[in-house]
Amino acid sequence: MTTAPTVSASGLTLRYGGTAALDDVSLRLREGITGLIGPNGAGKTTLLRVLATAVPADRGAFAVLGHDPGTTAGRQEARRRLGYLPQNPGFHLDFTAFSFVDYVAILKELTDRAARHREVRRVLEAVDLSDVRGKRIKRLSGGMRQRVALAAALLGDPGLLLLDEPTVGLDPEQRMRFRELIAQAGESRTVLLSTHQTEDVAMLCHRVIVMVRGRIHFEGTPAELTARAAGRVWSSAERDPGARAGWRTGLGTFRNVGDPPRGAALLEPTLEDGYLLVLDGEPAEVASL
Ligand SMILES: Nc1ncnc2c1ncn2[C@@H]1O[C@H](COP(=O)(O)OP(=O)(O)OP(=O)(O)O)[C@@H](O)[C@H]1O
Ligand SMILES: [Mg+2]
Repeated sequence: MTTAPTVSASGLTLRYGGTAALDDVSLRLREGITGLIGPNGAGKTTLLRVLATAVPADRGAFAVLGHDPGTTAGRQEARRRLGYLPQNPGFHLDFTAFSFVDYVAILKELTDRAARHREVRRVLEAVDLSDVRGKRIKRLSGGMRQRVALAAALLGDPGLLLLDEPTVGLDPEQRMRFRELIAQAGESRTVLLSTHQTEDVAMLCHRVIVMVRGRIHFEGTPAELTARAAGRVWSSAERDPGARAGWRTGLGTFRNVGDPPRGAALLEPTLEDGYLLVLDGEPAEVASL
């Protein structure tokens, strides 16, 4: 793609005491859905919070659709152009779905009441919640609450959507519905999707970033991440002590990831296999940006 990136960041660094939550992170995000995966504490939420301009980085710079959040005017413009679904949306449980999204719309400076209410109805319709918009949030299921949070993030039709683990805690059917909504949202905008579900990445994302201890260890396509495990996944009747990771499968055989012994019965790798190998002390690699 030759279009200008929606987000370009260089050298983002943020320390909490002795911990580098972000350690010299540079990236570019373009239209489509980019998955952000990494172990607990890797810095995914911190990266999203920085890009959402919720916290400033200690060092480094970034731009959202050409606007520099380092300046007051640029921050305001960037905020108008992004939607953020936080890891723990701070719901007011007594609010109705409508009044919660309306409240976020007020914070987003949609000041004209009639236009704002039209926009709130539009985003609730987009996530299929029109029927329950008058219900209090405490009476909604987890999947519905996540859709309320997504509706709030979609206010104002932002060019950049930052979604922090939106499918966590959803049952498989709800997760599938939510994937459809994210896929729709990603058709015409840039989405950064933090998740622990490697299937989310395999099914939805055109790019994937793996973060470990505040640094980017991999950036590429899901197929490239899967290819990291080509020839490195094999099955065996007993646990293979030489494997970097191995587990018994439903078939009763073991699935091993690592350096296979000679003559091993190789298996088709998955994105998760590639991810496990990136985590396993591989040299940090960032595809040329
Ligand atoms: N407000 C804070 N104060 C102190 N330390 C923090 C704060 N926020 C994050 N950290 C630390 O920064 C590091 C990165 O945390 P972050 O929440 O960004 O990780 P994450 O990848 O989102 O993890 P998870 O998958 O568990 O959501 C962790 O070591 C965490 O303890
Ligand atoms: Mg997080």
